[in-house]
Order: sequence, then C-alpha cells, then structure tokens
Amino acid sequence: ESGKLWGGRFVGAVDPIMEKFNASITYDRQLWEVDVQGSKAYSRGLEKAGLLTKAEMDQILHGLDKVAEEWAQGTFKLNPNDEDIHTANERRLKELIGETAGKLHTGRSRNDQVVTDLRLWMRQTCSTLSGLLWELIRTMVDRAEAECDVLFPGYTHLQRAQPIRWSHWILSHAVALTRDSERLLEVRKRIDVLPLGSGAIAGNPLGVDRELLRAGGGGWATWLGERRPFPVLQPSPASSHPQELSFRAITLNSMDATSERDFVAEFLFWASLCMTHLSRMAEDLILYGTKEFSFVQLSDAYSTGSSLMPQKKNPDSLELIRSKAGRVFGRCAGLLMTLKGLPSTYNKDLQEDKEAVFEVSDTMSAVLQVATGVISTLQIHRENMGQALSPDMLATDLAYYLVRKGMPFRQAHEASGKAVFMAETKGVALNQLSLQELQTISPLFLSDVNHVWDYGHSVEQYGALGGTARSSVDWQIRQVRALLRAQ
Ligand code: ARG
Repeated sequence: ESGKLWGGRFVGAVDPIMEKFNASITYDRQLWEVDVQGSKAYSRGLEKAGLLTKAEMDQILHGLDKVAEEWAQGTFKLNPNDEDIHTANERRLKELIGETAGKLHTGRSRNDQVVTDLRLWMRQTCSTLSGLLWELIRTMVDRAEAECDVLFPGYTHLQRAQPIRWSHWILSHAVALTRDSERLLEVRKRIDVLPLGSGAIAGNPLGVDRELLRAGGGGWATWLGERRPFPVLQPSPASSHPQELSFRAITLNSMDATSERDFVAEFLFWASLCMTHLSRMAEDLILYGTKEFSFVQLSDAYSTGSSLMPQKKNPDSLELIRSKAGRVFGRCAGLLMTLKGLPSTYNKDLQEDKEAVFEVSDTMSAVLQVATGVISTLQIHRENMGQALSPDMLATDLAYYLVRKGMPFRQAHEASGKAVFMAETKGVALNQLSLQELQTISPLFLSDVNHVWDYGHSVEQYGALGGTARSSVDWQIRQVRALLRAQ
C-alpha cells in the first residue's frame, strides 16, 4: 500500500517533508557498489543455508550484477520512493528479476546491511588514503635528501632557537605523518570486521554461515579490486573457502555489531590528528613564505592572487589545508555527540555517520594530494635561510664549549648568558666579543672558541640519533624509507 519495503503495517502515508527528512539516498548512493557486493555474498550464504535454490541464487546474482552495471553506467534511475541505497537496490532488483528478489533480505536487516556496506567502503578508502599519505611522505623524504645541506633557523616559541638543517624540519613533519600512517593501518584493521548475519538486533535464525560470509562466498576480491594492496597486520587463519576476500574477522555480538560506530569515530579521529599535523606544517610554510621570512616560495600552481592588490600571491592551498582541519574536527566531535546518549542498538541517529565519513574521506583525499603538490613544487631560498641565522642562536653551543672544557652545564649556561648580555650591552653580535672579553667571564675560553661561530660546525654536533647532524638526518631518511618500502 505505502510502496515501502517496510510498508506492511502502515496505512497512512508519510508526510512528504518526513519522507525527505528520513531519506539518506542523496548521499548513501555512494555505497551502491559495496551494497551489491554485500548482497551477493549474502545470497550465497542463503543458498548454502538452503534458503535459496541454486537457480534462485543465480537469478539474484545475475540481477545484482545488472543493478551494479546500471550504477556503473549512470543509468540507474532513482525513484522518489527510494529511501536509501539498500531499498533502492532491492527495489530495482525486484523490477529486474521479479518476486525472487524478495528472498534476498531473508534474515537480514538494513541494520547489519548498512554497517557491512560502510565497513567495506571505508576499508577501501583507508587503502586509498594510505597510498596518498605515503606519496606525501615520499615526496617529503625526497626533498629532505636532496636539500640536506641547507641550514636555517629552528624556532621554539617562534623565537630563534638553534640552527637546524632544512631537512630536519621536513622530516619532523614527515615522521609525524608516519605515525598517522601506522594509525590508519590499525583503524583499518578494526574496520575490517564483518557484521553481516547480525540481523536487526538478535542475530540470524536461519542458519546462515557467517564464516562463509566473512570469506565473501567468492568474488569480492576482484570486484572490490583494491588499487593498492594493503598489508594485513594479522592474516586470518587459512580459510576453507577459496577466493577469500576476506574480512579479517566477524563481529562477536549482534547487538554491538549493528550499532557500534567505534570504527567510524576512530577513522574521524585518525583524520583529525593527521589534519593537525598537516595544519601545523601549513602554518610553518605560510609563515616561511612571508616577505619577512622569505625562506620559501609557493609555486603559482598552489597560490592565488588578489582581485584588488596586483602584487599579491597568496598561499591559499596552505590556508585551506589549515582550515579543513577545523571541518574534520567538527565531524569527529559531531559523531561523538550523536553517539553519546544513544540507547543500545540501532537508532536512526546512526544514519548520520555516513555524511561524516564521506566528507572527511573526500577532504583527506584532496588535502593529501594538495599537500604533496605544494611540497614537491615549493621553492626554497637557501641564501635567505642562511642569512637568517644569527650568532645568538649559538649561545647554547657556547655553553657546550665550556662543558667540553669541564665546566658543569649550569655554570656554562650562566657564563654563556653573561656573554649574551655583554654583547647586547655593547651593541655587538655574540661572535664579535673578543677573546679577552670572553675570558673576563671564564678563563676556560681559548682561541678555539672561534669554531663555535660556524653554523655548519654547530649542526654537526647534534649527531645523536634523531638530531640535526648530517649523519642523523641521513639515518632518519633511511628509517622513513624503510617504512616506505614496507608498504
Ligand atoms: N539508511 C539507514 C542508515 O543509514 C539504513 C538502516 C535503516 N535501519 C532501520 N532500522 N531503519 O542507517
């Protein structure tokens, strides 16, 4: 009567405004491919359980392929009654193969269906994003290697701190991104768990073999064809089913399975933290690109101009990376708000998870590609970077000079501080103090103090692993490259 898949107990019509309010098809249509795949696997499960004949299963599989083909070719026609991707696909299947289509949903609920779809979709997305993230990291490491000799000021509190290698700065950001990559792998692992066969809440009463569903009943692997093979942390035990595609595991509890969105929250948090790192890098580069710093220059390809001021070249790419972080955090916080206070099991509130996932996935994909473009085309001004170094940034090294002569560090710090004060009051640079002047502070100063004033010499002292000396920067590059190779 109502034309709905759930219409049996309904007499009255749904208010059109409610119809629209309730519908998720405008965005969950993106799940068409995984929805078909989940249904194909489920129909195989039904056949194995004796609920479909082989002929019926083949009819359904064939029909589902047809549905997928229509989506792929852009000929799938939505009808105004299609509430979501699940009802749309089933409606179309029925038009294509008739009443047999009505057997597909046996024992299944949209509650276990939607979360299966979403996990499949996100698993693929994680692989794609992981590839993009590694491309960015690779680009950064290549630069770090090529520009290892460039020195420039390192800042703490945005105040000149110590001379560092430009590569050390690049690697500081790249290394943060390797943790994001590792984290994404872990999130993906928890996404890679099959909820299908959980029904609406209580489970499946019809003997469907969930282990068979997990393995995919054949064919998923090629269909989902992951563009980048993703390493599986813990390979599942050898399956008795060939062509396993393979969820890594099956969910343990049907009530939990149909309603937990931990994997969504974790994904959104992963994205948030990754955006924090990218935003910080963007902010550094925006600053370094100002006339006042003039360390770097963004390529035209990632800048825009001003409609009023002809001289302007603005770092919009970096500013947008920085701003997208806010949007991603908002989605993460928004989902947690939605989850908080829900009673157990499925509630329609959960429908809202998908827009967050889709938007954040799109954002991350764009941001990672733009960041890769920015880094690979960035120009650096070596001379400006070198000229920005100043002797006061060597005050720490001056203290270490005294430490090497046997003075306790606290005294050396004090002595070097006095030298800084003396230079300041005399209105000269720290390295302009004469040996005699330095010796009024400590007799340990000798003529070899000259070496302290060499920036190249300075950075080379920081040779412990993780420091800014050449050997340590090379070591960092090797470490990150090893991680890259392991991908
Ligand atoms: N479109 C719904 C969602 O995204 C599908 C699940 C609907 N389930 C239900 N019991 N109404 O969550």
